Amino acid sequence: MGKKLFIKTWGCQMNVYDSTRMADILAPLGYEPSETPEDADMVILNTCHIREKATDKVFSELGRLKKHKTEKEDNGGRMLMAVAGCVAQAEGDFIMERAPYVDMVFGPQTYHNLPEMVAKASGAFGTERVVNTDFPTESKFDHLPEETHKQGVSAFLSIQEGCDKFCTFCVVPYTRGSEFSRPADQIIEEARRLVKSGTREITMLGQNVNAWHGDGLDGKTWGLGRLAREMAEIDGLERIRYTTSHPRDMDDELIAAHRDVEKLMPFLHLPVQSGSDNVLKLMNRKHKADFYREIIDRLREARPDIALSSDFIVGFPGETEADHEATMKLVEDIDYAFCYSFKYSPRPGTPGAKMGGVVPENVKDRRLQELQSLLNSQQKAFNESCVGKTLPVLFDREGQKDGQLLGKSPYMQSVHVEANERLKGHIADVEITGAFANSLTGSIVTCEEITTQTSSKRVVA
Ligand code: 5AD
Ligand code: SF4
Repeated sequence: MGKKLFIKTWGCQMNVYDSTRMADILAPLGYEPSETPEDADMVILNTCHIREKATDKVFSELGRLKKHKTEKEDNGGRMLMAVAGCVAQAEGDFIMERAPYVDMVFGPQTYHNLPEMVAKASGAFGTERVVNTDFPTESKFDHLPEETHKQGVSAFLSIQEGCDKFCTFCVVPYTRGSEFSRPADQIIEEARRLVKSGTREITMLGQNVNAWHGDGLDGKTWGLGRLAREMAEIDGLERIRYTTSHPRDMDDELIAAHRDVEKLMPFLHLPVQSGSDNVLKLMNRKHKADFYREIIDRLREARPDIALSSDFIVGFPGETEADHEATMKLVEDIDYAFCYSFKYSPRPGTPGAKMGGVVPENVKDRRLQELQSLLNSQQKAFNESCVGKTLPVLFDREGQKDGQLLGKSPYMQSVHVEANERLKGHIADVEITGAFANSLTGSIVTCEEITTQTSSKRVVA
């Protein structure tokens, strides 16, 4: 009988990708994904360390899960408990000490060793608690099996990991290690397999995805623009995206790809963090606000309809009222479609945590509120500007109501329509009739000609 595997994932899309791959690695050992932790044979918490309370969240989840583990043991069973991801990397020993019922702790770069870790922890060679937070010299990607679990219509594909930029607020260089780019052939093969399994849209992932510079198919080193062109050659792959990018790595080739590659979607998440040159310097972002403005101008020249998003941090140490105003000004200048914004939270071990000029919490709150109200009004205006337009929507999910399908516009907006469920996995032109804070609604106009491996048919709404 199959063993039950429950994985809970926090944080970025890279963690979501890693969780899928962990399930792939554990499949040959008989583990099958389960939606609930009760009665699971293995529970993995795939954690995120990016902002505060990350460790607290993990401990409270562990506390809840311990009950299930005890129940299972009382009934003569066994539940392996593992903490993975960035909190595991940063706080591995502390977790082992404070939660003696945890069997395995492993970081983002070592999960390809899961079979060995499970063997140790489950007693095959004598029960042993396992901590594995190394940064191995060999890439985990060379040791991952082919995908067993389908990701569906829209899939993630990690092409790059780690970061060498050392922004002073960020834990990533410490939890994910230094920059690593997978070779193009490995990426293209994985993309082809995903498409074969039904994927129509791939989001290439990396902490610094546009810093990707891997071995190309021609033996030369390629950049992301070149890779995007190659990905676009894959038959059946309709949409390509990538995230998350750094302004300094938006090179000419990548900007040109936004002009030339139709499958590259006109939406870019390009975090700037702050609009003040003083704060950008303190953050070690290595660029000024005007450099970012110029990149955006060039992107808009290449692809006039490109929609933009960003991350912002308010209340970084040393941020003055004038700095905050500079951020507000930058937001007004750029006019975003959608953004994330956060209060600065000092992360242990990062240079920012030791900086003077700490901004009081009430000031951070007020600045965040001001920023978010501006960002929300831009998002609303962007969504409303779509009403009356006809947009191609890739349907990837059923909606909550019967007969409702959910999909994504090219600009990453969620679109819900009344439609035949057979449209799931396909692109249809939708006339947008309504805009909400976080989504659009509309009605189907026309639908693509659908070619499957065995038949060519036209699906009607
Ligand atoms: N405090 C607040 N926000 C942070 N981010 C990263 N580190 C911190 C921190 N210490 C935000 C950045 C980043 C996003 C993923 O999380 O905006 O782009
Ligand atoms: Fe969180 Fe960063 Fe780790 Fe992703 S890489 S899980 S955002 S700490």
